[in-house]
Amino acid sequence: MMQMVNLTIDGKQIQAPAGSSVLEAARSAGIYIPTLCYHPDLRPEGACRLCMVEASGARTLVASCVYPVSEGMVVKTNTSKVREARKTVLELLLTNHPKDCLCCQKNGDCELQKIAADLGVRKLRFEGGETRARTIDNSNPSLVRDQEKCILCGRCIRVCRDVQGMSVYSFAGRGFNTMVSTAFEHDLLNSACTYCGQCADVCPTGAIVEKDDTDKVWAAINNPEKVVVVQTAPSVRVA
Ligand code: FES
Repeated sequence: MMQMVNLTIDGKQIQAPAGSSVLEAARSAGIYIPTLCYHPDLRPEGACRLCMVEASGARTLVASCVYPVSEGMVVKTNTSKVREARKTVLELLLTNHPKDCLCCQKNGDCELQKIAADLGVRKLRFEGGETRARTIDNSNPSLVRDQEKCILCGRCIRVCRDVQGMSVYSFAGRGFNTMVSTAFEHDLLNSACTYCGQCADVCPTGAIVEKDDTDKVWAAINNPEKVVVVQTAPSVRVA
C-alpha cells in the first residue's frame, strides 16, 4: 500500500504519497505554484527556480518541484518573500529575452508571458547589462529555433532524450554562455532530429516552434496558377 505523509500547505491539511514533491502535493490540492522548467510528463530538474516556496525545516526557499514532502511539513507558497523571489527570477529571465511578444508565434500561448502577467512584472529592473545574442535556426522544413527566446529550462533536452530516445539537444557552455545546443552546434537539418515536434510541444516560450506555413497556403489559395511550394515535415518518429 502507498505510504502517505501529512503536511500543511497554505494552511490546508494535505495527504500526499511519500516521495512525491511539494509541487505535486500542492497541485493535487488545487494550490497554484508557477513553474517553467517543470512538465508533468518529464523528470523534474529544478532548473528555473520559479516554483520556490517556504518550507519548514529549510533555511532557504526551496524549489517545490524537486523538494520532497515529509511528515508534518508546513509549506507557504504565497508569502511576500516567495513572490518577490519569483518576480526577481522572472525579471532576470526577461532581461535576456527579445520582448517581441506582439510578433511572436507563441503570443497568447507563452508560459513566460503568462507568468510575467500573473506576477505583475511591468518593467525590468536589471536592463542595461550584457545580453546573449543567438541565431535563429530556420534550416529545416518543420521547426524554427530562436535561441534568444530560450530560457534554458531543459524541457526540449529531456523530452528528446527521455521520451524520444534521440538526444538531439544538450546543454553546452558554462555560466552566462550556457545554451541548448545540438551536437557540434549544427543546425537541425544537419542533426539527428526527426522533426517529431515534441520539443516544440513542451517548449514554454517561442524558442522552438513549428514552422508556420500559413502564409504560403493562403498564397496558394489566392493565386492558384502561381506555383507555391508548401514544405511538409518528413515522417514522424514515434517512440
Ligand atoms: Fe521548479 Fe523550475 S519549476 S525549478
